[in-house]
Amino acid sequence: MPVSRKKNISKQLVNAVKKTVKAAYAPYSKIVVGAGVYCASGNIYTGVNIENSSYSLTMCAERVALFKAISEGEKKILLLLVYSPQVNFITPCGACLQVLNELAPHVMVVTMNKKEEFKFYSLQTLLPKPFKI
Ligand code: THU
Repeated sequence: MPVSRKKNISKQLVNAVKKTVKAAYAPYSKIVVGAGVYCASGNIYTGVNIENSSYSLTMCAERVALFKAISEGEKKILLLLVYSPQVNFITPCGACLQVLNELAPHVMVVTMNKKEEFKFYSLQTLLPKPFKI
């Protein structure tokens, strides 16, 4: 990705993700995660991780944000920003990458640390061999 576009991570998206992470429900792992997707429509949808005492029912922040966007009719997701204060430059888990591959195949994945520094990844880099039928 060209350097100029790297600087253009919208402050609105960064602020939305930093705000939403406060709503994370993570009493078990204590790792709070916030995510935000920026769509071609210009709309932003945020999500947080939502854990459950039956641990495997936990939902990641990335999928919450993505599903919110899809369920509102968004067709093109351009960028996903993910952030956790506990995990330096958190990247999406394999399950989220697989779901992104299907619903947002051209998404740029951006991870942010506490200093608001960014790292950019194509989905292809993070999941080079997705499952496909
Ligand atoms: N988690 C996310 O929300 N996104 C990720 O990319 C990885 C992990 C959540 C799941 C769980 O609530 C906590 O972080 C620790 O695994």
